Amino acid sequence: MSEFDTIIDRRSTGSLKWERYAGRDVLPLWVADMDFAVPDCVLEAVRSRLDHGILGYSVAHQGVREAITDYLKDEHGVAADPGWLVFTPGMVPAKSQAVLVAGGPGDALMVCTPAYPPFLNLHRATQRELITVPLCEMPDGPLRYTLDFEAMEAAVTARTKVFFLCNPHNPVGRVFTAEEVQKVAEFCLAHDLLLVSDEIHCDLLLEPETAPHYTALRVPGAIQERLIVLMAASKTCNIPGLSTAFAVIPDATLRRKFVASKNTFIAEVNPLGYHATEAAYRFSRPWRQRLQAYLRGNRDRLASFLAEQAPMVRMPHMEATYLAWLDVRALNLENPHAHFEKHGLGFSPGTDFGGPGHVRLNFGCPRSTLDEALRRFATAL
Ligand SMILES: Cc1ncc(COP(=O)(O)O)c(C=O)c1O
Repeated sequence: MSEFDTIIDRRSTGSLKWERYAGRDVLPLWVADMDFAVPDCVLEAVRSRLDHGILGYSVAHQGVREAITDYLKDEHGVAADPGWLVFTPGMVPAKSQAVLVAGGPGDALMVCTPAYPPFLNLHRATQRELITVPLCEMPDGPLRYTLDFEAMEAAVTARTKVFFLCNPHNPVGRVFTAEEVQKVAEFCLAHDLLLVSDEIHCDLLLEPETAPHYTALRVPGAIQERLIVLMAASKTCNIPGLSTAFAVIPDATLRRKFVASKNTFIAEVNPLGYHATEAAYRFSRPWRQRLQAYLRGNRDRLASFLAEQAPMVRMPHMEATYLAWLDVRALNLENPHAHFEKHGLGFSPGTDFGGPGHVRLNFGCPRSTLDEALRRFATAL
């Protein structure tokens, strides 16, 4: 039995994921957190910080900065300076901050769809225009998506200031190759765009040997002067409730602008988040590798189920994340999300991601929970 097989009852713990369906027989398979215990090394760090007894306003201590720069060097081959890191209380506020550093009201930002929903809402509060460009299917092999550079060229305008990349991609599960990331960088340079690369899922690789992560921090040349990479330990170590993320910004001027764009809407990072993040990057690697293997098993279970019992449902070949993007258009359902919910399955609606006719299934759960979900899925069909 794997440590990830343990069922932990999350009902009545104030879990966003589980509270939505409190008192109903619906399996919550939506928001991106996992039903697994946080690795011990991270819990220990939080406990030991608590034992100090004071939880005042905090700044990033040297230990967390070094844990991250060591990780960037060891895992990604990037020599980052600890001073390049700017901590934020989560990725979503960091994205708004990033938008504010380039251009002004009325300028545009570009996002490829389907997209993690906040990408599609950022422009409102920042008074920007949103340009969306659909990802396209790759021509060969199993279903996989890539960036549609022709469509991006056609859609970009003189007022476009920011391009948002999500790599690995939520929800389509792609890990973009070095060539793809380099092409994105060229596109940004050619059109004078800030590149904001959300790499929050970069440790949730399902095929690290054949589909390794290539961070935008590795692209050589001028792009480094217009690059903000966003990362966090939150998805990998299942600590999103600690609201801690960081931006890696190699260029000093851009970094100053990013820090200055933090307005009164954005709070400080909490001390537990800093200490959990430090421990995650220093000590969680063996746990992470076991997690990847377990998630790969879940992905394969889901893929076999679909191939055998629901061949009309299309799932891209997933190289990363625990979030499966299911194309259910062939089922001709008026409201796929409502249909599956009626059958006890709480998915994320594709419409939130700019992908009607789809649902997103979170398989970051014990295999027995996934098996129960698949039984319900078969009935729903
Ligand atoms: C691509 C992506 N970015 C950011 C986030 C959320 O980050 P945070 O909770 O730090 O705001 C998620 C969560 O699902 C995500 O999938």
